[in-house]
Amino acid sequence: MFNLTGKVALITGGSRGLGRADALALAKAGADVVITDILLESDVDEEALKSSAVGQALRKEGIVYAEQTAEEISRSGGRAAAYRMDVTDEEEVARVVDRVIDSFGRIDILVNNAAMLDHVATIENQSEVLWERDLRINLTGAYNCTRAVWPQMKEQRWGRIINMASVAGTMGGFGQASYSTTKAGIIGLTKSLALEGARYGITSNAIVPGIIATEAWKSGNPKMNERMIARTAFRRPGEPVDIAHAVVFLASPEANYITGIELYVSGGIELFTF
Ligand SMILES: NC(=O)c1ccc[n+]([C@@H]2O[C@H](COP(=O)([O-])OP(=O)(O)OC[C@H]3O[C@@H](n4cnc5c(N)ncnc54)[C@H](O)[C@@H]3O)[C@@H](O)[C@H]2O)c1
Repeated sequence: MFNLTGKVALITGGSRGLGRADALALAKAGADVVITDILLESDVDEEALKSSAVGQALRKEGIVYAEQTAEEISRSGGRAAAYRMDVTDEEEVARVVDRVIDSFGRIDILVNNAAMLDHVATIENQSEVLWERDLRINLTGAYNCTRAVWPQMKEQRWGRIINMASVAGTMGGFGQASYSTTKAGIIGLTKSLALEGARYGITSNAIVPGIIATEAWKSGNPKMNERMIARTAFRRPGEPVDIAHAVVFLASPEANYITGIELYVSGGIELFTF
């Protein structure tokens, strides 16, 4: 079951957190893995970091380790690469997709994982700049990457689009107007792609994580985090590997007849409780 040998996966925002866990799990299942992120360890430019809002947020939340993850996979006998790719930069996305096809021969699995999660403010206090940033990265980014891989998947008559949504997108989130809007949008995109991809053997599904203990989540407001856990049926956050297992399943031939779904991996945070 879940043998991905011969498949090539491209993961966005894969240097840490859920993206890194997805990369490791896909590689373990036999896939060749290309980890992409806005920053790689070897090209961290301190000046660029200081002058960009994304850079500052990343610096605050911790380091990136895309190249390290690729090396880890290669050391354990898999095939992996790490490429710099900003999902908002259409030209860079096209260049990376061409490079993957040149080096790996195909692209079978796209995990649209890149996102910014740090814009938390009530509607009066939402920042216009961060609203636009979130739409551009979290939503348009997934659109850009999908459009870039689509012709190849169509030609192969096989493809898997796996989009990272969130319970914030299905339930809303207090103080999360921009983030929840992008995550609701991802679900609409997922379903439209499912309809359009079916004739080409391309499936498109969304994973709806609840609270998952990544670096990004841990760097959030501790009081808010406690409240989120308190309303989760399991009373604990999930682990990145819980999401990664769902990614491997949706990517696998066993999930051939599954498309357009929202797969909750949420510990029951959306269930009625009191
Ligand atoms: N952790 C959770 O509790 C949780 C819950 C629901 C949904 N999610 C979703 O899961 C995904 C991963 O979340 P995470 O907790 O691992 O967060 P994270 O911040 O660790 O990962 C996001 C990655 O995206 C990258 N990124 C940011 N802007 C980019 C850009 N323009 N181009 C390319 N990459 C860019 C970041 O560098 C980072 O590596 C996100 O889509 C998030 O919305 C997470």
